[in-house]
Amino acid sequence: MGAGIAGEFARAGCAVRLMDVKDKFIERGMELVDAAQEALVGARLLTAHKAKAARKRITATTSLGAACDGVQLLVEAVSEDLAVKKKMFRQFDALCPGRAVLASNTSGLSITKIASATKRPKLLAGMHFWNPPHLIPLVEVTKGKGTSDATARLLMKVARRIGKRPILVKHDVPGFVGNRLQFAVMREALHILSEGIASAEDIDTAMTAGPGLRYGLLGPLRTADLGGLDVFKAISDYLFAELSDAKKPPKLMADLVKRRKLGAKAGEGFYKYSRRDLKQIVNQRDHVLLGFLKVLRQQER
Ligand SMILES: NC(=O)c1ccc[n+]([C@@H]2O[C@H](COP(=O)([O-])OP(=O)(O)OC[C@H]3O[C@@H](n4cnc5c(N)ncnc54)[C@H](O)[C@@H]3O)[C@@H](O)[C@H]2O)c1
Repeated sequence: MGAGIAGEFARAGCAVRLMDVKDKFIERGMELVDAAQEALVGARLLTAHKAKAARKRITATTSLGAACDGVQLLVEAVSEDLAVKKKMFRQFDALCPGRAVLASNTSGLSITKIASATKRPKLLAGMHFWNPPHLIPLVEVTKGKGTSDATARLLMKVARRIGKRPILVKHDVPGFVGNRLQFAVMREALHILSEGIASAEDIDTAMTAGPGLRYGLLGPLRTADLGGLDVFKAISDYLFAELSDAKKPPKLMADLVKRRKLGAKAGEGFYKYSRRDLKQIVNQRDHVLLGFLKVLRQQER
């Protein structure tokens, strides 16, 4: 994620320092930047000239001191572990200029807890990019208990400036907004599968050929507005009580994980995957996402 985020800032014209603990991790990151840029150039969302210039704006280093020296904004994307993040932020606080804004790309750890490792909670917030950053426009800017309004406003502005679609998460809640929505759907999908109501394939088709199309364009609340709130209220009246309110993932999921059927990376999860299938699915996904990105860019003009 760190390299993907670095690419986004660099393409927007910012001078970026990409820091990791080993040269080989940085090299891997730069390969990801190149692959992302190739895809954007291929889709005519970026010129080869601009891609080359962006690449030159990224300076890589394995020295944290050099990375933090004189920065205006730091975006952290180390492993999703609170103890590791707190240790990192303690160091950022000591090494970055006093006025620098510190942001975490955490997927859902508490911003307030991360900020407790620093003396500058006012200047610290969540800045959660979605994967892959060059294709997904959403950035969630999350306020911790101590984050100032000015810092949240600044990060919203910065995110817009680099071409993202930021949202403000006003309270530091687990999962922020995007993952709360995603996992609410996931919980119900697992419930439908566990109860034998439909197959995995049909559950996915119910989303991709149905509400998913509307959600991609309108979101759940505008979809309800267009459907009529009286209609949605009447359905909610009898349906909410039927939906899963499970507090734990179902046995079905725990069993798959126990048997190391971890999804595409293991060759099997809910479906089986050959390398060829996987390549095809990812190519298809990226092709559609690049198309969406083009539509969004046109809307912004
Ligand atoms: N992968 C995703 O889809 C995704 C999406 C959004 C947010 N995130 C969040 O982004 C963060 C990173 O996730 P990822 O999937 O890129 O993880 P990753 O494990 O692929 O990358 C983490 C990187 O941090 C580096 N690192 C670890 N300790 C370090 C240190 N002390 N100093 C410098 N670098 C250090 C590692 O070498 C590694 O290259 C996590 O907080 C994760 O929750 C991930």
